[in-house]
Amino acid sequence: MLKSHYAGELRGEHAGQEVTLAGWVHRRRDHGGLIFLDLRDSTGLVQVVVNPQNAPAAHASASDVRGEYVIQVRGVVSLRRPGTENTALPTGEIEVTANAIEVLNAAKTPPFYINEDTQVEELLRLRYRYLDLRRERMHNNIVMRHRVVDFIRNFLIERGFLEIETPILANATPEGARDYLVPSRVSPGNFYALPQSPQQFKQLLMVAGFEQYFQIARCFRDEDLRADRQPEFTQLDLEMSFVTEEDILSLTEQLYTEMAQTLRPNLKLKTPFPRLTYAEAMRRYGSDKPDIRYGLELVDFTEHVRTTEFGVFKTAAESGGAIEGITVPGGAGFSRREIDDLTETVKTYGARGLVSIGYAKDPGEATEEDIKSPVLKFIGLDHARSIGMLAGAKAGDMVLIVAGQGGLPAKEAGSAGRVKPALDALRRTLAAKLSLADPDELAFLWVTDFPLFNWDDEEERWDPTHHLFTAAKPEDLALLESDTGKVRSNAYDLVCSGSEMGGGSIRIHDREDQMAIFRLLRIGEEQARERFGHMLDAFEFGAPPHGGIACGIDRTAAMLAQTDDIREMIAFPKTKSASDLMTGAPSPAAEEALKTLRIRVEGEG
Ligand code: AMO
Repeated sequence: MLKSHYAGELRGEHAGQEVTLAGWVHRRRDHGGLIFLDLRDSTGLVQVVVNPQNAPAAHASASDVRGEYVIQVRGVVSLRRPGTENTALPTGEIEVTANAIEVLNAAKTPPFYINEDTQVEELLRLRYRYLDLRRERMHNNIVMRHRVVDFIRNFLIERGFLEIETPILANATPEGARDYLVPSRVSPGNFYALPQSPQQFKQLLMVAGFEQYFQIARCFRDEDLRADRQPEFTQLDLEMSFVTEEDILSLTEQLYTEMAQTLRPNLKLKTPFPRLTYAEAMRRYGSDKPDIRYGLELVDFTEHVRTTEFGVFKTAAESGGAIEGITVPGGAGFSRREIDDLTETVKTYGARGLVSIGYAKDPGEATEEDIKSPVLKFIGLDHARSIGMLAGAKAGDMVLIVAGQGGLPAKEAGSAGRVKPALDALRRTLAAKLSLADPDELAFLWVTDFPLFNWDDEEERWDPTHHLFTAAKPEDLALLESDTGKVRSNAYDLVCSGSEMGGGSIRIHDREDQMAIFRLLRIGEEQARERFGHMLDAFEFGAPPHGGIACGIDRTAAMLAQTDDIREMIAFPKTKSASDLMTGAPSPAAEEALKTLRIRVEGEG
């Protein structure tokens, strides 16, 4: 090797040793005699001192080098003089006195600082990702990701899980997004679909008798991208046979607890993870992935305000809609402008507007002078007071209310249900505005009992809430035809601080049960055979009861690194338009290649 030691690993105990180091010039300081170089390699930094008297050639080299030059240094480790130690650096008690310095490669001035954590335009960072990854924060993120995967592997292998790979070139496995297609050369006109998840294969591995499977699996989904969504991402995918929902939840909970406590011991974590049914999560938070680090729970005023003369409330209540709100502690001091901004937020989520009622005194004692609300004259003093009391408001608080058609989100009530999503957005916005969430708390919870189906208003049909292999709760099976929307499933999501970490379910393992679901989803016999014949067949050859879960590795690593953007945790991520700015992917294919595949491209972009 071109080095005897790694820079970041040198300590006091190495004092007196001759070492050879190699790495990048992180920083160079010329004191007009002594030159100090911070030498960086994958393990960290060490200070190198170059003395013109003792090592003139090394000093000449050190005079020429610039930031990011690649150099090799030979020298002797010595303890720094008392008082000159750098406690901020793990190597801060020592330095290396250089005898020889060789420049292994020069470097142009990088387009942004490598040695400072400054704001850099994202497009530039992505274009020069290999330089961005040299920066300490990004380096640490990638190390954290590695440690997450390493922890998971050890944890599961110790418990008898087998890591098994499944195909990337496969047929579509629907998870609700569009597929990435790969044309086949040998059978022109036919396409593979990149897996949205290994769902079908892992179930078939259960039929194959493996009982405890896991995989660190790459998944591909052509969907709208956001901070927590990439077109290709990684799952911890696992599946077990002969288990109940409880077994999957407790295994996953133990994994996440131990992983967080090991990798981020300073972050706060409450165990056991609270559990909320989907219905309760929606009722209290308006979301199936609530952030429970703060309160701001939803209050339902629908019945209470049914009798007001206020048109907005009246119409909503009479049309089967909902009137719900949030109490903001100390919110009575919000300015007109602040309330306008919050109104804009709820409007983006489909609400018509936001009703505000501020209380200068406790609602029970408030007179008209103590209540600040643009709708006071419509709802009257009595209702203004009772709304405040129902909402548990105190002097100085404000109640914010959204009225609309239908209390549930699109997922269950179709696109008419805007009240819950608007209040969920309002809750998150208020929490950010008032700094209510502790950034050092990992607020895990389980959301269970998801509805098996949700109604798609546009397509006018039922869609699976999770996926079409999820089993109904046995006690709800009777409702399948008669009250489809009420059927609950054994599907569960792991949520952390308002972000969905994972989701899974107990599966169907019986051919007839699977066919019943296909029928409900209007997948005909023939189509079912064509698309899922292998699953139906497998269920007839002794398929064991089974279930599992998949957790987002990118999101898990981001949570532990305390960032919301999973691109910070992926070495080479894609932009919001799913392109790679460094390599230029995607790009046009060569004419010749298209011809071989018998593909003709119509038009451009
Ligand atoms: P699901 O679709 O809920 O379940 O995905 C599981 C977890 O994968 C992560 N995830 C993503 N992460 C980054 N970018 C994306 N585009 C993206 N999409 C999903 C999330 C999510 O919770 N086969 C089922 C699992 C099962 O039933 O066992 C599945 O894939 O963290």
